[in-house]
Amino acid sequence: MCGIVGYIGHREAYPIVLKGLKRLEYRGYDSAGIALYDGDEMKLSKTKGKVVDLEKRLESEITTNGTVGIGHTRWATHGVPNDVNSHPHYSNSGNLVIIHNGIIENYEPLRQELINRGYSFTSETDTEVLVNLIEDVKTKENVKLGKAVQIALNQTVGAYAIAVFDKNKPDEIVVARLGSPLAIGVGEEEFFIASDASPFIEYTNNAIYLEDGEMAVVRKKKGVKVRKIQDDSLVDPYVQELKMNLEQIEKGGYDHFMLKEIYEQPNAIKDTYRGRMRVEEGIIKMAGIDDHIDKFLNARRILIIACGTSWHAGLVGEYIFEDLARIPVEVEYASEFRYRNPVIYEDDVVIAISQSGETADTMAAIKLAKERGAFVFGICNVVGSSISRETHAGAYTHAGPEIGVASTKAFTTQITVLTLIALQMAKKKGVISTSDFFMHLQELERIPEKVEKALEASDHIKEVAEIYKEASNCLYLGRGFNFPVALEGALKLKEISYIHAEGYPAAEMKHGPIALIDEQMPVIVIATKKGHYEKVVSNIQEIKSRKGKIIGIVTEGDVTVKNLADHVIEIPETMESMTPLLTTIPLQLLSYYIAVMLGKNVDQPRNLAKSVTVE
Ligand code: M6R
Repeated sequence: MCGIVGYIGHREAYPIVLKGLKRLEYRGYDSAGIALYDGDEMKLSKTKGKVVDLEKRLESEITTNGTVGIGHTRWATHGVPNDVNSHPHYSNSGNLVIIHNGIIENYEPLRQELINRGYSFTSETDTEVLVNLIEDVKTKENVKLGKAVQIALNQTVGAYAIAVFDKNKPDEIVVARLGSPLAIGVGEEEFFIASDASPFIEYTNNAIYLEDGEMAVVRKKKGVKVRKIQDDSLVDPYVQELKMNLEQIEKGGYDHFMLKEIYEQPNAIKDTYRGRMRVEEGIIKMAGIDDHIDKFLNARRILIIACGTSWHAGLVGEYIFEDLARIPVEVEYASEFRYRNPVIYEDDVVIAISQSGETADTMAAIKLAKERGAFVFGICNVVGSSISRETHAGAYTHAGPEIGVASTKAFTTQITVLTLIALQMAKKKGVISTSDFFMHLQELERIPEKVEKALEASDHIKEVAEIYKEASNCLYLGRGFNFPVALEGALKLKEISYIHAEGYPAAEMKHGPIALIDEQMPVIVIATKKGHYEKVVSNIQEIKSRKGKIIGIVTEGDVTVKNLADHVIEIPETMESMTPLLTTIPLQLLSYYIAVMLGKNVDQPRNLAKSVTVE
């Protein structure tokens, strides 16, 4: 996820674009850049770091008060965050300049083709490929910028929101979107372009939100012309009147980042598997794995190291790897592992999981594993983070920035990556049949849709939250793949609502926690159809006979648990190994609503930090 901003009109562009970037920084903040047209030439400046770093640099560099400009704040996907990979990117001639939010999946073959045609590249980005593709089309076909953008985009696979400017046609900016948001603020002979309306809300309340697959030529005097990218047909743009305030817009209309991030999960999971899974062909392609497949196939065991929510994802990974890839797995708290003199073999594969890629304990555990000769693979969300650089290889989750301190989309996207790795290993080891492999790919592809469905229970979950918000304690139970989800559900509740909660394997309840159960105790039981269902039903009976309050997370259409529980929350049916991707959703929402009802600071709970860079 990145933020894009543009302005064309009669005001000085620089302050508008710069302020817009600051407002969009929540979308990505590893580098930033601006291109301004001074009436003759483009002035481009970009830097690794935050918008304030760009601003400092611009104090000495920017000399123009031109009225056209575009800017970008980046969340790296292709290429580490550095000055060169930052946006905007010029085309080879220097005539075109582009900003891009998204991923061009087929950039590698396009890049090769352009190199064969004499183009050269300075960055590692897919975006520089796109701007040169547009330039190539424009020159070859001798067409206007808008047409060239349209033809070029029809050759790409992936997601984008782009703004392109041609210094030889300075009265227009061409924009397009597919899979990434793009709004056009409409003023009096002035237009604003942005990933959301926050950069322009103080200038205009009128906005056109481009739909997926649409592009627009935005002209200072002639206005906005919208077309379908695929077939060039004209679209009558709908100018919407905005009634939101600034803060609401940054959070996409959600009250908190946490809620926004919970709702982003269908897309985040899609972004995680995008370009890595070709379902029809029955193929998984992950360079980090494929380039080191021998290490994975010859591994004595897999050691997963992580903290907090990432550790819970690792525990789900243990079940997935053992089930699908038939390899022994141990999951370790990084903080314990590093101080325990652990036995590490040279033929161990260590998988380090971290959303931020900066967690100090995980980093130290990685260094230890490397010293002992193990191969270390990282699963991180933040591109170019310390952990992603310290590991031998890795895979990004591509979940986009997670701002809420309570991890939500990080968890489900980490599980998605772990599932892809386990499936690839299973296939290469020959321990999964072709049809089973194919069925898993198909089901993973359906998960985003099923997450959407699970989110529909939100109002019902709010009612349940209202009933239990005053509880002092809560118990979360799950078995098999869903035992780690019980742990994660309990962590979510305690960190944002400060209610004491514990997660347990359902069968362990009778070895102690059952003593806690009375009519005051809400017990959240994950009782999906495919996970030791009858056994969990017996556990529910045990709770019921001790008058505990039961909230069952069940598969759609369940009858048995419905008859026993005080409340049930349904999730769609899926393969057992993928249930954690769905059962997690109601637990996130439940803790969110309880915390809100208690008036807690959901996005920044007390005593916590988003990335724990100290021991
Ligand atoms: O960035 P990381 O994934 O390494 O962070 C690990 C934990 O600090 C993190 O998951 C923490 O537990 C979250 N606040 C949980 O919601």
